[in-house]
Amino acid sequence: MKFLKLLIFLSVRFINRATTQRYRQDTKSNIFIINCTETHVSSLLHCTALSRESKDVTFFFDNQKKRCRWNCLFQYDMDAVFPGWQCYEMEWKTNAALNKRPLVSSVYNNNTSNWSPDFATDGVISIQDVQIFHSHWEPTPWIMVDLVNMSKISFVRVFVRIDTGGKRFHDVIYEISNNTSTYEQFGFFRGPAVSGQVVEICCGSPDLGQYVRLRVTQGSDNSLNIAELEIFSV
Ligand SMILES: *[C@@H]1O[C@H](CO)[C@@H](O)[C@H](O)[C@H]1NC(C)=O
Ligand SMILES: *[C@@H]1O[C@H](CO)[C@@H](O)[C@H](O)[C@H]1NC(C)=O
Ligand SMILES: *[C@@H]1O[C@H](CO)[C@@H](O)[C@H](O)[C@H]1NC(C)=O
Ligand SMILES: *[C@@H]1O[C@H](CO)[C@@H](O)[C@H](O)[C@H]1NC(C)=O
Ligand SMILES: *[C@@H]1O[C@H](CO)[C@@H](O)[C@H](O)[C@H]1NC(C)=O
Ligand SMILES: *[C@@H]1O[C@H](CO)[C@@H](O)[C@H](O)[C@H]1NC(C)=O
Repeated sequence: MKFLKLLIFLSVRFINRATTQRYRQDTKSNIFIINCTETHVSSLLHCTALSRESKDVTFFFDNQKKRCRWNCLFQYDMDAVFPGWQCYEMEWKTNAALNKRPLVSSVYNNNTSNWSPDFATDGVISIQDVQIFHSHWEPTPWIMVDLVNMSKISFVRVFVRIDTGGKRFHDVIYEISNNTSTYEQFGFFRGPAVSGQVVEICCGSPDLGQYVRLRVTQGSDNSLNIAELEIFSV
């Protein structure tokens, strides 16, 4: 019986390694939890399965009480301290977006000194209405990052504008491409977000690509407002 369990455990790990993203224990800073779904689970593996099913990048596990917090919403907070749960995050190697120069559909009032797309990838989270990327009002605003080299791309994390206007971030398609002519949809965030929400959007399994694009797809009067965009490769 023990042997069988071990065999099942090993094969689950093997399958996961081959086809999907793995998680590792981690810490998070500057983020607090708005809410999660909390359930009793049999094991960490069970908690991981729930989180993977809901395409979560981050989940929490209390090993003593065997409780799982998944399907969580997060918000930016410089002073946030995480509770004493074990935090797990999808494995990643680098934030491939950092200091790349994104292309965008438009810049609000054409004013790049206030709202350049570069503010989305400068590694600085502005809490103001400036030094963020802010598009015009248009039907389908988008931001695209050329990672320069082909990368194995996993999830993205978006720090939605903090001071106001969070609900502008809704119905966002996350997609990747090798050549900018054909994009593969990789994830979707319905939202709407709240101001300062930290939105993690994921995928089934990581895939190779060079170009990563986020675009708003519903409604006609939209504006993309992003304090920071991180793109994680494995
Ligand atoms: C979390 O909060 C959001 C926004 O207030 C709400 O729509 C959602 O139902 C809540 N989820 C849970 C699991 O409580
Ligand atoms: C921004 O620049 C574009 C292209 O030069 C121009 O068509 C548009 O009218 C400008 N918009 C504003 C608000 O200045
Ligand atoms: C951008 O906006 C700022 C502040 O609103 C203003 O001082 C500056 O002149 C504007 N720059 C351009 C190029 O319009
Ligand atoms: C792209 O790949 C080349 C060659 O391997 C390397 O020299 C360069 O640093 C890479 N650029 C980025 C932005 O990763
Ligand atoms: C990009 O090309 C590689 C093969 O070179 C392929 O494995 C991958 O799925 C392609 N990515 C996309 C988004 O089409
Ligand atoms: C772009 O890449 C996709 C996926 O790799 C491929 O199916 C498509 O034919 C490519 N298009 C061009 C114009 O190269």
